[in-house]
Amino acid sequence: MVEAFRRFRTTMNKTALTQRPAWKALEAHYQSVKDAHLRKLFADDPKRGERLAAEGVGLYLDYSKNRVTDETIQLLLKLAEECDLRGRINAMFLGEKINITEDRAVLHVALRAPRGQSIILNGENVVPKVHTVLDKMAEFADHVRNGAWKGYTGKSIRNVVNIGIGGSNLGPVMAYEALRHYSMREMTFRFVSNVDGTDLAEAVRDLDPEETLFIVSSKTFTTQETMTNAHSAKQWIVNRFSNKRAVADHFVAVSTNAREVAQFGIDPVNMFGFWDWVGGRYSMDSAIGLATMIAIGSKEFRSMLAGFHAMDDHFRTAPFDKNLPVLMGLLGVWYNNFFGAQTAAVLPYDQYLKRFPAYLQQLTMESNGKHITLGGTRVDYQTGPVFWGEPGTNGQHSFYQLIHQGTKLIPCDFIGFCYPLNPIGDQHELLISNLFAQSEALAFGKTAEEVKAEGTADALVPHRVFEGNRPSNTILAAQLTPESLGKLVALYEHVVFTQGAIWDIDSFDQWGVELGKVLAKKITPELESFVDPELKHDSSTNALIRRYRHSKTRIRG
Ligand code: F6P
Repeated sequence: MVEAFRRFRTTMNKTALTQRPAWKALEAHYQSVKDAHLRKLFADDPKRGERLAAEGVGLYLDYSKNRVTDETIQLLLKLAEECDLRGRINAMFLGEKINITEDRAVLHVALRAPRGQSIILNGENVVPKVHTVLDKMAEFADHVRNGAWKGYTGKSIRNVVNIGIGGSNLGPVMAYEALRHYSMREMTFRFVSNVDGTDLAEAVRDLDPEETLFIVSSKTFTTQETMTNAHSAKQWIVNRFSNKRAVADHFVAVSTNAREVAQFGIDPVNMFGFWDWVGGRYSMDSAIGLATMIAIGSKEFRSMLAGFHAMDDHFRTAPFDKNLPVLMGLLGVWYNNFFGAQTAAVLPYDQYLKRFPAYLQQLTMESNGKHITLGGTRVDYQTGPVFWGEPGTNGQHSFYQLIHQGTKLIPCDFIGFCYPLNPIGDQHELLISNLFAQSEALAFGKTAEEVKAEGTADALVPHRVFEGNRPSNTILAAQLTPESLGKLVALYEHVVFTQGAIWDIDSFDQWGVELGKVLAKKITPELESFVDPELKHDSSTNALIRRYRHSKTRIRG
């Protein structure tokens, strides 16, 4: 690791972000455009809606409803150049150890590289290894789907339960929900993540153990929540069959840690591997996607990978002014660092994408929620925003009020598909008209004059005014398919990369999750131990532990 730091320090451009000429120019530029209204920007440029748009690999990005001028975009692009975004992209694709605090390459792009492509890491082409695992997954998925894989009593598998947390859960469950339309409907898929026993209990309560397969998904195979749930699931199986040998027929593992997998009792033959150069939140297209592959079949899974790869190529080769992830990443920086926006909303107008915002929360916030630069100093600017969202139109009847008339600026990403997967009456037209209406209302609002002209009583006029000038992107794709999902996820992966490069942080480590884990390990035995003087936390934590012990004892009787 020391070597990684040394190597990095000698090559890095030491100019601090806020001292860069483009940053300073953006600060000055912000003062001149901060009050410009989208109404005027559109009125002055009738073609703006078509001009400020970009298309890549079948995804259409309309970024015209952002509070930008052509100069803003030019300055943001200049900032990207000054931060050597191009060099950093190349470094990632070349397998350089850009995750410097863990001294690791960042090669999730290799997970979707087509057979025959070459990506060299430590002198070895990693692409054949990727395809060996994919082939093994495909064979296994086929066996489960066609009933050839039997449980301990000889019954075929009808239920698949993925046990994993963070990237070992959010990607698989998001992809399963997103691609449910393409999934094998005769089978049941469940995803258990929380160490709260309720999660596992509710997931298995109506399942027949004879027909149930558990996939224990954990990069490290040491994560407390996952291993606790996996051991409880193992007990559930052993109790049912009164024989430990049943474990081999009802458990498979996805991990980088073969030793721990064997120790758990899973036959290493039934382990699907991946590598330390795949970050947890970037792993849904590795073996971590095994549940997804069983659900949709290997052909559709590969078509999802092709979608990822198409976006990777676009990100690597498209000029920055036409590059979707670069444009979206830079627009995010514009709001985060110049307008002071604290959050960003993602609003998919597709019910199948209901877990997409939760997935993006880990992707964006675990990646860019950092306050130390690659050079080891504290940043003097804001980094990753809070990411949140819900599918439309549900959100419209909940939090959109605040986006329209609240006091906070919340840049939004609207996502829509032109052809529905479930055409029922005119419901899709209603859905999409709501999407378009929301971005229009946010941008242009409604003036006091317009409100008055409707005959509104004077006292009510200010309440019914929409200031507008609320920015948004709209991303349109033809249809939600495995391929378009791959493109969409890769788009956001590279948006995160772009922003991390600008903010000069390591988007691929996650040291911030460690302290809580260590403290929880210390507290667990204290909840059961009643030797009070041993409590050595702060007075608040001590009091909470005592309160918990006391309440629990009273309920237990
Ligand atoms: O605690 C955070 C984290 O390390 C994530 O980055 C990761 O996706 C998750 O835990 C699960 O880790 P694992 O796959 O090793 O169980």
